[in-house]
Amino acid sequence: MGDALKDQSPLRIGVVGAGQISGAYLRTFATLPNVSVTAVADLDGARAAAVAATVPGARATVAEKLYAAEDVDLVLNLTIPAAHAEVAQAAIAAGRHVYGEKPLAATTEEARAVLAAADAAGVRVGCAPDTVLGTGVQSARAVLDADEIGTPVAATAFMVAPGHELWHPAPEFYYRPGGGPLFDMGPYYLTALVTLLGPVRRVVGMASTSRDVRTIGSGPRAGTEFPVEVATHVTGVLEHESGVLSTLVMSFDVWAGTLPRIEVYGTGGSLSVPDPNGFDGPVRLFRAQAGHWEDVPVRGGYAGAERGYGVADLARGLATNSPHRADGQLAYHVLETMESLLLASQRGQAVLVASHCERPAAVPVHARPETE
Ligand SMILES: NC(=O)c1ccc[n+]([C@@H]2O[C@H](COP(=O)([O-])OP(=O)(O)OC[C@H]3O[C@@H](n4cnc5c(N)ncnc54)[C@H](O)[C@@H]3O)[C@@H](O)[C@H]2O)c1
Repeated sequence: MGDALKDQSPLRIGVVGAGQISGAYLRTFATLPNVSVTAVADLDGARAAAVAATVPGARATVAEKLYAAEDVDLVLNLTIPAAHAEVAQAAIAAGRHVYGEKPLAATTEEARAVLAAADAAGVRVGCAPDTVLGTGVQSARAVLDADEIGTPVAATAFMVAPGHELWHPAPEFYYRPGGGPLFDMGPYYLTALVTLLGPVRRVVGMASTSRDVRTIGSGPRAGTEFPVEVATHVTGVLEHESGVLSTLVMSFDVWAGTLPRIEVYGTGGSLSVPDPNGFDGPVRLFRAQAGHWEDVPVRGGYAGAERGYGVADLARGLATNSPHRADGQLAYHVLETMESLLLASQRGQAVLVASHCERPAAVPVHARPETE
């Protein structure tokens, strides 16, 4: 660990929302020296207790006490999208930094209020996904930044799946505002596209809903039907500020498909980017002059990263008084881009994306989130 950070005590984390995804974060935190979980809260007290019991030194409590606790520096918000803004606001009001699961909020209106409150309180906002900090997207970025496919012209991003109700025991939130394939899976793809190609200035889109009702496929309520309130197939084109055109398909209406995840096409070649819902995976490069695909070795990103590295990167940013990467501005821009796609679909016309964000700093190869 670098000298400047040797004496820093870990950032103390209070987790709100002890559901499906909480275990992934807690497993990661156990491996990272600059973060430590002190408290866990959930509307369901038994769930909070069960999760807290898996973390040495952490206690179960209720959210209101967690926000106010002296030993909580950052509130990790792992609740459902409809509660993201409310939980973030309560944490910010108590003077805590916040890092939340995606999307930043269910709407840009809510998200703007969260960012404004954080600004006024002088606390940081971080937001998933942090998958883009892994070796997959970061190695692809290194290829682009070295101009190895020439000038990027276009990209594709495809996520096609039958729907999370097949495996998630409480899947209703995926079909309410703030969910759907676009708001749920779109953040991985859009955050990767913005990381690779920069922010978006305009979008066109179309969207549809194939079924009004879906059926829970697993857990104690398997067989229960619930209503669908969102578009389940969304397709569109993003015009990046650079002029690159990214074609997007996000769908919970596809049983099986063979589409690539993300590809970038440039004046001098093509780049194949691995699944942005993961941290690593094969990056492949086609150079026009070589005329064949080649594997790209790891050229950037946190090796071995898992969900939670974005929190450790935020802790590093606080300790070194430098920016963190998975930040609120980026998450807001991604949210506005998604909202604009749906708006474009409803209006039948192109929609301008008002917000701008900077590409976060590249993650150098061999970097660690706690020491870099
Ligand atoms: N499940 C996954 O594989 C997965 C993967 C990546 C990201 N995510 C994201 O993580 C978030 C949570 O997903 P999940 O699958 O863990 O959901 P979940 O329904 O399993 O868990 C959410 C938990 O939050 C609690 N909760 C809701 N509102 C609350 C509030 N106001 N205060 C305190 N607790 C509250 C619920 O009681 C529940 O225990 C979502 O934003 C989702 O998009 C989930």
